[in-house]
Amino acid sequence: FVRNFSTSGLKKNAIKNVTIIGGGLMGAGIAQVAASTGHSVVMVDQNTDILNKSKANIEKSLQRVVKKKYAEDPKAGEAFLSQVLGNLALETDAATSVKKADLVIEAIVENLKIKQELFKNLDMAAPASTIFASNTSSIPIKEIAVATERADRFGGLHYFNPVPMMKLLEVIRIPQTSDETFDKLLAFGKAMGKVTVNCKDTPGFIVNRLLVPYMMEAVRMVERGEATPKDVDTAMKLGAGYPMGPFELTDYVGLDTCKFIIDGWHEKYPDHPLFAPSPLLNKYVAEGKLGNKVGEGFYKSKK
Ligand code: NAI
Repeated sequence: FVRNFSTSGLKKNAIKNVTIIGGGLMGAGIAQVAASTGHSVVMVDQNTDILNKSKANIEKSLQRVVKKKYAEDPKAGEAFLSQVLGNLALETDAATSVKKADLVIEAIVENLKIKQELFKNLDMAAPASTIFASNTSSIPIKEIAVATERADRFGGLHYFNPVPMMKLLEVIRIPQTSDETFDKLLAFGKAMGKVTVNCKDTPGFIVNRLLVPYMMEAVRMVERGEATPKDVDTAMKLGAGYPMGPFELTDYVGLDTCKFIIDGWHEKYPDHPLFAPSPLLNKYVAEGKLGNKVGEGFYKSKK
């Protein structure tokens, strides 16, 4: 997002007021980048403690950006920082937070019932013109959208962690999404400095649909005793030019997250061989070896 640093100059009719529900890992990242690119952002979470921590993390992250970007001109850096923080408001009441929203991005817990409940309430509270989007990784967008009366103004905005660093944004449409809504979502993604790709509402969209089965195939290869994790990683880095091997990537993403995604797909498509669960992955998760976040997954790592 460094490329798109202006904090003003959004096009007329463009999405300006953005409400982000959920100020966790993803929500805070989305809020940071949206505020940095001149949007007026309201970030919502369950209580002020979470929100304050989240805002402090955003500030820390912004300070790192400013230090690099404005090394020659610290005054301009300070002005940028205060302008961005001025673009960011905090709120605990979701219904209040959407009153002026052009766009709502939901990044709360990955649970269909809870997401539906949230959107049902937001549908009643938000103006008719407000577009709704979910950042879900594994729940079909259409199953969330049915909780509302605005499926034509509903889509998916799937960001990647860490949001300020990762260039890609998957923009998802369901069959009911209007062209106007989809175009606005694409334009918003670009205004955030992201490169957008158009996706349909299929399991895993583009990236995870290819990446998760690939990671699972790597685990299965080790399960069959054909290679060690280290050799698979070395092979894919030096032979296929990937920046990380599949086991390093699984440790980074979290073994529990991979299991959660694959189990969900397996339940829906039990005959699909690429979506089959892996006993080895299940064993690691049961042992609490969840990856880098706990210091051990397929490899031992620093926490
Ligand atoms: P997280 O656990 O870090 O953050 C979720 C936040 O939502 C928490 O702060 C929680 O207090 C808040 N929350 C929960 N229910 C709420 C409610 N009803 N109202 C307001 N706030 C509520 O989770 P994370 O990792 O940020 O994931 C959020 C969403 O983004 C999930 O749908 C996940 O599938 C998706 N996602 C996650 C990615 C990742 O790498 N972690 C990547 C792309 C998408």
